Amino acid sequence: MCKSPGENRDFFIDICKMKSIGVLTSGGDSPGMNACIRAVVRTAVSHKVEVHGIKRGYQGMVDNEFTRLEKHDVANIIQYGGTILKSARCMDFMQPEGRKKAHENLLKHDIEGLIVIGGNGTYTGAIEFEKDFGIPSIGCPGTIDNDLYGTDFTIGYDTAVNTALWAIDRIRDSADSHNRVFFIEVMGRDSGFIALNSGIAGGAEGILLPEIDNDYDLLIEHFKSKRRKNKQFSIIVVAEGEKLGRAFEIAEKFKKEFPHVDEKVSVLGHLQRGGSPTANDRILASVLGNAAVENLLKGESSKCVGLVNNKVVLTSFEEAIGKRKEINPTLWNLASVLSS
Ligand code: F6P
Repeated sequence: MCKSPGENRDFFIDICKMKSIGVLTSGGDSPGMNACIRAVVRTAVSHKVEVHGIKRGYQGMVDNEFTRLEKHDVANIIQYGGTILKSARCMDFMQPEGRKKAHENLLKHDIEGLIVIGGNGTYTGAIEFEKDFGIPSIGCPGTIDNDLYGTDFTIGYDTAVNTALWAIDRIRDSADSHNRVFFIEVMGRDSGFIALNSGIAGGAEGILLPEIDNDYDLLIEHFKSKRRKNKQFSIIVVAEGEKLGRAFEIAEKFKKEFPHVDEKVSVLGHLQRGGSPTANDRILASVLGNAAVENLLKGESSKCVGLVNNKVVLTSFEEAIGKRKEINPTLWNLASVLSS
């Protein structure tokens, strides 16, 4: 196993490279995960390293579901959403017995290092596994929520924003035709990146995010002023994690204040997780999948790769999990100005 990077990096890869690595996708799937798997496999094979795909994230490690991946196995997948390896949120792996079983299975396949594609939970699993058994791993940020520190964008986020925007545009046509107020709930368990960006791009009259403390009375005042300005219809984008409540609850309170307004709720849900990845997501996934393997073979471990200002950076799993990625205040101010 590699211990530390040498000065001549390519030479270092040649003399200390692992013979066999595993790759898995874990947590919520995101468009671009397939492009990332493809980059991982093709980069590793170009270094003559064997790759084992692990099915259903950490669950497949526990249940011994491994499959050898060659270059041709990842042909014709770059354009597909979802993940050919399937994904899961694995409870067994949170227990020491589950991790022990997983380690025994890794040994059966001589796997010496892991590439884990996913979000916070995926990185947490990798930390615990390395603590228990010393198996090094590098993470690739795969989640539509974009809530991972250490990268400007996560794999799948761009596609999800564009999917949400596609839906908002269509709902706006109907909102306009019927003079309705639509509360559109977008994904983002604890974060408002999808809401903020799809809201700005979709010309929303209101955007509610968990990162901003919203006051219900101010919200009502905002609507009242809109109606005074004779605004006949509105689109309000609500992040799933909004602290005032889910879109249905907010709409219910709204109805009490404005009983004569025709209000509707649309929860976009999992349609935001699927679909063919955008060019941005495919490129991001390819760059990060490649960088993850290169860094694992150089002896890096317990870190995730990310793209910050167009440069690949490494961030420790602890930092990536521990630090909150803030929304862009300039964009938030812009949203306020444009929706007023
Ligand atoms: O983390 C990505 C995400 O899509 C969140 O936005 C959402 O809250 C969650 O996953 C839904 O998870 P599941 O598909 O397990 O219900």
